[in-house]
Amino acid sequence: MYSVPKLEQYSTEALDAAAAELKSALEQESAAVSTEADWKNFRDRWMARKGGISTQLSENWLKVAPILAKREVGIRVNDLKARIEQTVEATQQRIKAGASKVADRVDIALPGIHRPVGAEHPVIRTVNEIVSVFKAMGYSVAEGPEIETDFYNFESLNFPPNHPARDMQDTIFIAGQEFKPQRDRLLLRTHTSPVQVRSMERLKPPVRLVIPGKVHRNDAPDASHSPMFHQVEGLAVDTNITFGDLKGTLDHAMKALFGSSVQTRFRPSFFPFTEPSAEVLVSCIICGAKGCRTCKQSGWIELLGCGMVDPNVFEGVRDNGYDPKRVSGFAFGMGADRIALMKYGIDDIQLLFQGDVRFLEQFA
Ligand code: DAH
Repeated sequence: MYSVPKLEQYSTEALDAAAAELKSALEQESAAVSTEADWKNFRDRWMARKGGISTQLSENWLKVAPILAKREVGIRVNDLKARIEQTVEATQQRIKAGASKVADRVDIALPGIHRPVGAEHPVIRTVNEIVSVFKAMGYSVAEGPEIETDFYNFESLNFPPNHPARDMQDTIFIAGQEFKPQRDRLLLRTHTSPVQVRSMERLKPPVRLVIPGKVHRNDAPDASHSPMFHQVEGLAVDTNITFGDLKGTLDHAMKALFGSSVQTRFRPSFFPFTEPSAEVLVSCIICGAKGCRTCKQSGWIELLGCGMVDPNVFEGVRDNGYDPKRVSGFAFGMGADRIALMKYGIDDIQLLFQGDVRFLEQFA
């Protein structure tokens, strides 16, 4: 690095050479400055009142020059000091103007910065697949809020006031809402079903909707439970929709998702917002219905809930064209995470949410 030499000779040529050497060092160092911090170091090195190169010029060149050379040395020292000041200032301008000289500094011989390519998360990929199966049947996509009111999550879906699903056991409530009437209190939605009602308030029948989203329940995490998981809800409302339409639609969807040899079975069930209600079982895709650990040797796996929309749910949106005497519909809801586990043969739901790149990379 440049340092101010002692002057041995005072001829014009010698002084020219010494000045040129300094100017070239000044230019080079200025060009190497690329950040604000670089610039501060650069400034101090050249202009610090104590020990900066400018100061050294006065001390080492001017002060000690023989009387006869003083005039000429003085002129050059002044010149050089002005030059230093200008260069330091110009360098700062360049930095401020935003590395406009970047192109000059790119060294194309250096190895590039490796940016790993991202990939769809297996749950998102599964959700998208489910959604596209229904899109192909003419369904549209709807979404709703994850922070939901008691009204939409429960009341509008015909949950009686003391239904166990409202219990603190299942639901994660937002704190500090006691001053509000029950129906306005906020919670993390426990299912995507409230979006059925939100959508019917917004859209007149007929509707065909799929509703993907995150849901939350106060469940301790284990291999098959997670307090946050994903559902895909479905809703079809029109005149003359029957349970046969529901069966046909879901049977087709399961075959589209898992392969045409998959079979479905409907088993009576209960949900407050559907009547009648059913659970859908699919023949185990892991063992081909022979019986394995996943299907608990039964050959069948329970995958979703469904049913015909309860007239009490339609009552709440009656004014938007949903007179239960005129329209009928079916609804269904499935857990997307469980479907992802099955599709990819994963045995622990926690793996989906730990964000371990070694796990996720396998789906890239
Ligand atoms: N919401 C239900 C749950 O979270 C699933 C469900 C069942 C959705 C039946 C529906 C339905 O739309 O008709 O367990």
